[in-house]
Amino acid sequence: DKKRHFSVNLLEWYRAHKRDLPWRRSKNPYHIWISEVMLQQTRVETVIPYFHRFTEQFPTVEALANAPEEDVLKAWEGLGYYSRARNLQSAVREVHERYGGIVPQEKEEISSLKGVGPYTSGAILSIAYNKPEPAVDGNVMRVLSRYFLIEEDIMKPSTRVKMEKLARELILEGTASDFNQALMELGAMVCTPRSPHCLTCPVMAQCSAREEGMEESLPIKKKA
Ligand code: ADE
Repeated sequence: DKKRHFSVNLLEWYRAHKRDLPWRRSKNPYHIWISEVMLQQTRVETVIPYFHRFTEQFPTVEALANAPEEDVLKAWEGLGYYSRARNLQSAVREVHERYGGIVPQEKEEISSLKGVGPYTSGAILSIAYNKPEPAVDGNVMRVLSRYFLIEEDIMKPSTRVKMEKLARELILEGTASDFNQALMELGAMVCTPRSPHCLTCPVMAQCSAREEGMEESLPIKKKA
């Protein structure tokens, strides 16, 4: 069926074509967390050297928890959105004190950390711990809205909720880590906002937007 076609073909494509990115060589939840926070408002090519330097300077939860804030902000210099760095250190201090330095594996616990919203918690739980949690950001909503022809406004909270339910259903047993990264990779490399590369897309054969000629008209995003 349509959902299984998506999951099976996307996963196979990702395993053959994924970019070799530094955070993909690690399953360290703390390192994955850093990468996801950096990637929230910053492009992959920019993040790569910052990720290397940051994880070298602050290799563990304990190291970041004990670092002076000014050192952390200095390491973040040039990435912008400095509240990301402050929230990250504050949350990492909580993990150090409350959870003995182990990033929690429970959705409720991880979601209560400063700066960790539904996307970030889903990304950490799935990528690092292979837990079947969705990680829905703008790229993922674009992919799903096209393949499944979802014409609801992605600015509406109810649309995100619907996408999260769908994304959760698409995760095949034991594949959450690769599957969520595959969705991100497809959105970044193939199913791009303008001029999507449908001819190299692993799921084009059953993409509803493609069938309708609507791939460039989705997702629908109304002004706030
Ligand atoms: N964007 C957000 N998370 C990402 C990841 N893990 N890999 C590549 N791009 C991303």
